[in-house]
Amino acid sequence: MSTAETAGTGTARTAAPVTVRVPAKVNVQLAVGGLRPDGFHDLANVFLAVGLYDEVTATATAPGEGPRVTCSGPDTDQVPLDRTNLAVRAADALAARYGIVPDVHLHIGKEIPVAGGMAGGSADAAGALLACDALWGTGASREELLEICAELGSDVPFSLVGGAALGRGRGELLTPLEVGGVFHWVFAVAAGGLSTPAVYRECDRLREARGGGAGADAVPAPEASPALLAALRAGDAALLAGHLSNDLQPAAVSLLPSLDDTLAVGTEAGALAALVSGSGPTCAFLAEDAAAASDVAFALRASGVCRTAHTATSPAPGATVVRPAG
Ligand code: C5P
Repeated sequence: MSTAETAGTGTARTAAPVTVRVPAKVNVQLAVGGLRPDGFHDLANVFLAVGLYDEVTATATAPGEGPRVTCSGPDTDQVPLDRTNLAVRAADALAARYGIVPDVHLHIGKEIPVAGGMAGGSADAAGALLACDALWGTGASREELLEICAELGSDVPFSLVGGAALGRGRGELLTPLEVGGVFHWVFAVAAGGLSTPAVYRECDRLREARGGGAGADAVPAPEASPALLAALRAGDAALLAGHLSNDLQPAAVSLLPSLDDTLAVGTEAGALAALVSGSGPTCAFLAEDAAAASDVAFALRASGVCRTAHTATSPAPGATVVRPAG
């Protein structure tokens, strides 16, 4: 009997719980092309994984009890605890592929801001996938896991691989990138979240209002900036600061104008550069070193423009099994 069959018959109940740690991401460049017929946008998305982590623990339950999900951490009242949760969808997708009954309890320990533009939901999906793969002993290949990730969401493949990567297509087609040093960041977490589809819609609306149109015929094809990639390779924060860009930033600020104040506070406190992270509303500040990052975080917390501020470094490893230790 194969391991997958063993899991399917329920004997996996005796398997030890598996915990996977998954990083958040910041987009150091997010170039958004025109609206595609499928409702997505072509991207040149330069992902950098940062050391803020969610932990997903998969525990086998009695037959017929799963899948179920619980969540702990700040703002978790905004996390759905039904089958629409991306972590549950990941477990369901893997189970369906291997003919396993997904009797599993997923617990998400959240540190990544919820609906914050830092791929928290995607991290939980990648974490659940890897944790269930280990719990059930499916032995899925990296390619298979990446395929399931891409079905679950545009940012999920990157959450699995971490490090730094250029995401093409809708963000799911990854090319690893070289990073030549450690970057120091501060993340200002807003009191609420922003809906990613709403921010993309606002981006289209602003483009149309400017008279240019929002379709692929009207918007230039997105391209990664060679200067930005060179700054990453060099590990040079001052150089990188001059090339950070996010085409979704005007849309996020249009929906939440107070983000301009947040960006200004961090910049005045000495950040090398500031930008909205992905679709926001988390704001990201690049700092020269750890001491500068801690000053920026202190100023942001004291100013009242955000709910809290975290410091973190990048790059960070992708989804990793942390318990049981490998
Ligand atoms: O892929 P994901 O489910 O994370 O995308 C959420 C939403 O964000 C999509 O439904 C779409 O509205 C928007 N999106 C987009 N273009 C992308 C990625 C996401 O328009 N490349």
